[in-house]
Amino acid sequence: MSTIHRYDVLIIGSGAAGLSLALQLPSAMKVGVVSKSQLAAGSTFWAQGGMAAVLHDRDSVEAHVADTLSAGAGLCHEPAVNFTVKRSRQVVDWLVSQGVNFDLREDRADAEFREFHLTTEGGHSHRRVIHAADQTGRAISEGLATRIAEANNISLLIDQCLVDLIKSGSRVAGAHLLSADGSSVETLHADAVVLATGGASKAYRYTTNPDGASGDGIAAAWRAGCRVANLEFNQFHPTCLFHPDSRSFLITEALRGEGATLHLSNGERFMPGFDQRGELAPRDIVARAIDHEMKRLGAECVYLDISHRPADFVMRHFPQTYERCLELGINITQHRIPVVPAAHYTCGGVLVDQFGATDVPGLYVVGESACTGLHGANRMASNSLLECFVYAQSAAGHIAESLVARQTALSPWDDSRVRNSDEEVVIQHNWQELRRLMWDYVGIVRTSRRLEQAARRISLLESEVAGYYARFQITRPLLELRNLARVASLMVECAAGRTESRGLHFNSDHPQQSSQARDSVLIPPNFNSETALPGTTDQLPPYQS
Ligand code: FUM
Repeated sequence: MSTIHRYDVLIIGSGAAGLSLALQLPSAMKVGVVSKSQLAAGSTFWAQGGMAAVLHDRDSVEAHVADTLSAGAGLCHEPAVNFTVKRSRQVVDWLVSQGVNFDLREDRADAEFREFHLTTEGGHSHRRVIHAADQTGRAISEGLATRIAEANNISLLIDQCLVDLIKSGSRVAGAHLLSADGSSVETLHADAVVLATGGASKAYRYTTNPDGASGDGIAAAWRAGCRVANLEFNQFHPTCLFHPDSRSFLITEALRGEGATLHLSNGERFMPGFDQRGELAPRDIVARAIDHEMKRLGAECVYLDISHRPADFVMRHFPQTYERCLELGINITQHRIPVVPAAHYTCGGVLVDQFGATDVPGLYVVGESACTGLHGANRMASNSLLECFVYAQSAAGHIAESLVARQTALSPWDDSRVRNSDEEVVIQHNWQELRRLMWDYVGIVRTSRRLEQAARRISLLESEVAGYYARFQITRPLLELRNLARVASLMVECAAGRTESRGLHFNSDHPQQSSQARDSVLIPPNFNSETALPGTTDQLPPYQS
């Protein structure tokens, strides 16, 4: 029989949100950080562009807030936007204090105060994206991982997969994790659990995300009784490399920030015809324009061109993009890059307050799995890393102040009634079917009929997966499929309920934007209004000043 491991705080997820939260908890707390695979396999590690922050004298909190609200198409919660943007400089200072190195302006290398090199991306009215060439996520991930390794109170539990949360009464009390070799399910007790598991873009056939983005935290929080919101707003990044040998390599938007332009195969530049901001319009607009042009022409891709910038500039600022494309025979200093839109970011998620707290006492959600209200109907580029750090800090403060040690009796995982599956092929088949269905029916442009069809098919698929879960020994692919099917179903339910088009959600049966912006809030069957966050059930919670 397996033993029960005890922590004060258990953090599921080892990206920007998870690692930074762990480092900001009091060192007297015993903290476990669960990583689904190696740190280099998560979304943070692969983040290219950077993090938005108000750092330049001519920029302002007001301008960053206004840009975020405009990109979010009327659905951002202004208190959340203000809360986040006001803390951006402090977040940069903290990251630098942790040893994270960002690019500096070369022309100011000798100045008394060195200045960060700031780039720009879609929707930003100022240069405000701090970065480490085109490998910002890697610089952050490695910097924070070094600090984690030095911390005596933090254990990193590598290659462990969340099975489900454990509750004791209305509170969260820990989690079950599938061990690295898949042979056992461990029981972990914790007085607070934080889900920082990232998004669910793996629900789509084509995505920029790494394999782990299967919505585990969102699905587990829903099963535990948390409301979710705005899951119809899945962001499609306009420029994923289109190449048979590289399905999910992101071509960072910072290339467009530095002047790259989008073209049809005949060389025609098309973005100015869609939006006066051209290639630097917010992502929903650029992705929809590309989708429109590809469908109109029956084209497989469009092309991104930065070859007019000096080769040494391109190679210095975008070394990873340059190398990766060169490996595939594309020299980006001379040739256009074939690109297509791909699922990139889950703007909605588990409904949380300003401390990352959820409807279930003791359970916090931070980062892409959460819906704070910052992103509204369309996330502005590079606001997500900022959100991770801001809410990780406020959640750490809240946990530090409110944690009460509890002696809860937990039972170990019981798998005495299940047997080994001899039908793994069914999991594989359903996994592929779900992702194709989401791509075809719940993609960049939706219709009410396709959403209805998607809902019916996902419901069948979910009942098949539930039967599997009840009868067979669990495996990682089964857990991921179960979570992905749940989140896909929630996405479709949010999308079907929105009878308008707004931001990332475009339904050609309802092409107009309604005059009233409302959140899509879904309430789980086991929702407990007595322990839930304050406020009205169909709205995001109010912020305390
Ligand atoms: O294009 C990019 O580098 C992605 C940035 C982001 O999603 O924030």
